[in-house]
Amino acid sequence: MIRLALFASGSGSNVENIYNYFSNNTNFIISKVYCNNANAGVLERCKRLNLKSLVFKRHEFFESSLVLKDLIETSDVIVLAGFLWKIPENIIQVFSDKIINIHPALLPKYGGKGMYGMNVHKAVKENNDAETGITIHFVNEKYDDGAIIFQAKTSLKPSDGIEEIAQKVHELEYKYYPKIIEQTFS
Ligand code: GRF
Repeated sequence: MIRLALFASGSGSNVENIYNYFSNNTNFIISKVYCNNANAGVLERCKRLNLKSLVFKRHEFFESSLVLKDLIETSDVIVLAGFLWKIPENIIQVFSDKIINIHPALLPKYGGKGMYGMNVHKAVKENNDAETGITIHFVNEKYDDGAIIFQAKTSLKPSDGIEEIAQKVHELEYKYYPKIIEQTFS
């Protein structure tokens, strides 16, 4: 049984989608949701889905081994699903090549510090791109820099606003992320 730790900072729609995908899977289990924001919507989803969660503060994450110790006890791999902080070196080393992330654009375009959520879609819109998509990649000590595992594209119309772009990207995330998690860690 492979134990998946999910990291999120916001709404958690990807967390719920991943939970649903693996709910009848005998090879994978969601161990716990790790969150850096006590007000995040993902925590409401955890309550509703009866998922364990651990909320931590910046100093606990970056200046202590609290989260790492918990991860070692609970989980085999780490899946970032809308988590906005860099992963500290101590976790990267222990979970080397066992941490993946989903980015809501076609990296290396629109990646790096500050490029998350609607900021990404705004940049795509401002550049009048004819397509966008998702990138699933291994995580290293930099933002959005690890080896790319998978990308999927969606075409854009000039009339698409950032909400429509976000919706098209979310649809790709929900369709592909669970499958790629399963493929990557099976
Ligand atoms: C998604 O767009 C994902 O690509 C990015 O963060 C967002 C999380 O959305 N990494 P949600 O919290 O899962 O709804």
